Amino acid sequence: MKVGGKHYTTIWPNADGRAVDVIDQRWLPHEFRVATLRKLSEFATAIREMWVRGAPLIGVTAAYGVAWQMAEDPSDAALDDARNVLHATRPTAINLRWALDLMRNHLRNLPPEKRAQAAYAKAAEIARLDIETNKAIGANGLEIIRGIAAGKKPGEPVNILTHCNAGWLATVDYGTATAPIFLAADAGIPVHVYVDETRPRNQGAHLTAWEMVAHGVPHTLIVDNAGGHLMQAGRVDMVLVGTDRTTASGDVCNKIGTYLKALAAADNAIPFYVALPTSTIDWTIADGLREIPIEERNGDEVSLVWGKTADGTITRVRISPEETPDANPAFDVTPARLVTALITERGVVPASREGLAPLAPERGA
Ligand code: MRU
Repeated sequence: MKVGGKHYTTIWPNADGRAVDVIDQRWLPHEFRVATLRKLSEFATAIREMWVRGAPLIGVTAAYGVAWQMAEDPSDAALDDARNVLHATRPTAINLRWALDLMRNHLRNLPPEKRAQAAYAKAAEIARLDIETNKAIGANGLEIIRGIAAGKKPGEPVNILTHCNAGWLATVDYGTATAPIFLAADAGIPVHVYVDETRPRNQGAHLTAWEMVAHGVPHTLIVDNAGGHLMQAGRVDMVLVGTDRTTASGDVCNKIGTYLKALAAADNAIPFYVALPTSTIDWTIADGLREIPIEERNGDEVSLVWGKTADGTITRVRISPEETPDANPAFDVTPARLVTALITERGVVPASREGLAPLAPERGA
């Protein structure tokens, strides 16, 4: 993704060879700021406080956090501690555990003096793999968009509704749900994206809309509640979202509100696709509703909203009475029966145990 004509990924090693730079997403779309992470606690804060967010990027950031800690102290105890501190930051996205397990398994059999260098190399490899994976997801999803476009009048756009940000900013580059959209736009297929604002934190309004502007993709920001109406009016051709954890049976956990979009899509016979790297599949569970831990975030995110005032100040304003209690479940689960198909780097598969089975790790995923 280009920012001001320069290519950026969301995370990269700092020039000092130790620290790690990330785009601090809290300030977008108003300001582009880079934060440098220089302590294990800063990596943890960056994930917990959502300077970085999105399942794949959380995993990569945690991997670099382990690398940082190995340069500080390469002992077994420090490795376990780094894993535990980073794992405790956010409970829902499985890529966090996936990346941390990859790091620990790679490092624990190495002598301590070799761990720091190996850890940075492994974190960089995980980051590179994320980019390659997203490109493959994009290529697979592009064919679905192309197929829908073929059924339209020439020049008529494919209208895609997306929720939250499963874009470039949620990954190292390209995004998952946005990768097919960017490729379709690059291929000259007319696309138009309905961007759900995605309350409470407004990742759609802040981040997805910013990416669409940056890539020159026609888009319209809508309130979360508008999707059902647009679907009834025939103005949505497909829903395309990401996921933080998908069960071995195809249940999909994603940003709160995704389930309601899936219900509306099913009621209106609109295809509902989920784009994901296979690292987002939790092979250990089958029942998303019972087995996926749903993150409960601070209620401030519901009662206070970030924005930019006319004088350019970025600030938070309260939208509810001080006395009103708030609740903030951050994710919900869409049952597999509401998912048309899963778009992975290894192909488009049905959201079912049988559909996912060929992608299982023992089969080489
Ligand atoms: O709370 P967030 O912003 O980390 O939630 C992100 C999402 O829900 C994304 O849709 C998901 O992580 C997939 S990102 C490719």
